[in-house]
Amino acid sequence: MSHIRAARTPVMRRAARRRVEQPILRTVMQVFAQSVATWQQRRTRLGDGAVGRKGDNHIEQGTRIAHILADVLGQTYYDHGLDFGCGWGRFMSLIAARCGHVWAADLFHDWLDRAVADIPHATSILLTEPSLPLDDASMTLIVDIMTLQSIDAPELRVRYVSELLRIAADGARLISVHKCDSWLANKSALSGLTEVDTKHITIDGEPEGYYLLTARM
Ligand SMILES: C[S@@+](CC[C@H](N)C(=O)[O-])C[C@H]1O[C@@H](n2cnc3c(N)ncnc32)[C@H](O)[C@@H]1O
Repeated sequence: MSHIRAARTPVMRRAARRRVEQPILRTVMQVFAQSVATWQQRRTRLGDGAVGRKGDNHIEQGTRIAHILADVLGQTYYDHGLDFGCGWGRFMSLIAARCGHVWAADLFHDWLDRAVADIPHATSILLTEPSLPLDDASMTLIVDIMTLQSIDAPELRVRYVSELLRIAADGARLISVHKCDSWLANKSALSGLTEVDTKHITIDGEPEGYYLLTARM
């Protein structure tokens, strides 16, 4: 056995590695494609209300979240902010008002166009794969309003979390709103964060409620 392994050339070893790695990559891309299809169907069914929970009044919910977000953001100014999974931009102007430049990332052209409309210092990012086309350590603020929680597939969430950690500048602020039963409720899910604070918040009157997580990355 051992002499067979020893006889492998580096090229053969790389080929063997690729045979193992390629199916994993395909799976994440397939899962991503599935998540785009699911969200496309959800938009068709619920229209703008797709950003809230089915049956919610997404306008009222948005107003409640906006108050909470404004409070957390305070008057601090950030050089570069990302609204990860911005939807059609419910919170873009609020975030943009505190940022030198703001990026809006989501899956759909039309939502992104609306999100950045009338915000001259905003750039939209259409996600066509589960990676963020932003430089390492480039963002000083990352906002996730119910986006990570909407990504059910664990391998996709893990991919996005590693992307968010990659693009976060040292000490970047993370603000995340997510369901209490979401994986993010477990503080160790984002290990390496500092100044982690989670608060129970009510954004739509549902008894199980939501968490507001703030942290430094
Ligand atoms: C619950 S909505 C929240 C939207 C926005 N943050 C808001 O509160 O108005 C979740 C957002 O995540 C986006 N999303 C879902 N799956 C995604 C994925 N795999 N990659 C990136 N964004 C995704 C959806 O298109 C949607 O805009």
